[in-house]
Amino acid sequence: MDTKEPLQKLLDYLASDMELCNRLIMDRMQSSVDLVSQLAAHLIVAGGKRLRPLLTLASARLCGYEQLSQGSMPRHVRLATSIEFLHTSTLLHDDVVDESKLRRGADSANVVFGNAASVLGGDFLFARAFQIMTEDGSLDVMRVISQACATIAEGELLQMTTQNDLSTSIARYYEVIYGKTAALFAASCRVGAIVADSTVKDEEALENYGLNLGMAFQLVDDALDYSAKQEELGKTVGDDFREGKITYPILIAYQKADAEEKKFWERVIESCDQTDQDLEHALSLINKHQALEETLKEAMSFANKACDAIRHFPEGELHSLFEEIARYTVTRHF
Ligand code: IPE
Ligand code: IPE
Ligand code: MG
Ligand code: MG
Repeated sequence: MDTKEPLQKLLDYLASDMELCNRLIMDRMQSSVDLVSQLAAHLIVAGGKRLRPLLTLASARLCGYEQLSQGSMPRHVRLATSIEFLHTSTLLHDDVVDESKLRRGADSANVVFGNAASVLGGDFLFARAFQIMTEDGSLDVMRVISQACATIAEGELLQMTTQNDLSTSIARYYEVIYGKTAALFAASCRVGAIVADSTVKDEEALENYGLNLGMAFQLVDDALDYSAKQEELGKTVGDDFREGKITYPILIAYQKADAEEKKFWERVIESCDQTDQDLEHALSLINKHQALEETLKEAMSFANKACDAIRHFPEGELHSLFEEIARYTVTRHF
């Protein structure tokens, strides 16, 4: 039986593409200003799953992308690099906004370099991503990615308006996670299809795969914020709770709460009046109402939709890997 993790399998399948991508990432994060390179390196060298650039590379290959001119950097590698820079830039900003202390298993950049440097470092990577995109020169690609960037910022701001608000609807929560996470997954996949000169039908199919995968990914991220082992996750468990973030597990636990439990949630989430024991009590209520199981069930349903979206692509090893990645997104522990 093949016991290798799906992510590792995809990495192996795309090993030569990914090696070029990693080289380009290391090369293009450099700046003549030392602090900029140090900041970028701090986060980039710590690793990360590189899931979004993998999706760009895989989508291009699924659509039959072949490099045209030898010697120059393949387009899909360039754009995968650009996507990883955008993602990294959102992480730098996100850890400032969320006041997070741990990222990719290390002190977050805001802890090491401070908030101001992190925001500006994020701006640098954002701009560098667009430089790389303009070198590629496709307006279609730029349209898709710039739209995703605007949507991410909208999602983050929309999330701010839901913070500490238990009357937030599930539909609103979905709007938030579409914006902050799924839109970039969708763009990562679509861009791969665009560089492969595929049909609009295939572009849309892959965009849909990415969108549904991204929804599943963020639902699971929100479950892991309560259930993960911190060393494995590489981020601080319980951050969402302490910040009064409205996520799917909380919405379910609140929906099913009795009067006394509702009072508890209102104190800790709405008034953010918390003691050291409250996270443990929150977890016991989340378990009592099976809120994490429901979150994962919901994630699985998005993962299935992702697989359905690309059903018409010919069967083969890469197609199967897309399906495995969808399942992995739900079963992952970090
Ligand atoms: C973290 O994304 C931000 C979310 C959308 C939850 P990843 O979990 O892909 O982060 P890295 O790149 O692997 O660190
Ligand atoms: C991730 O948001 C989305 C972006 C970075 C835009 P979160 O705040 O939920 O992700 P983590 O848990 O810090 O990675
Ligand atoms: Mg965060
Ligand atoms: Mg955040």
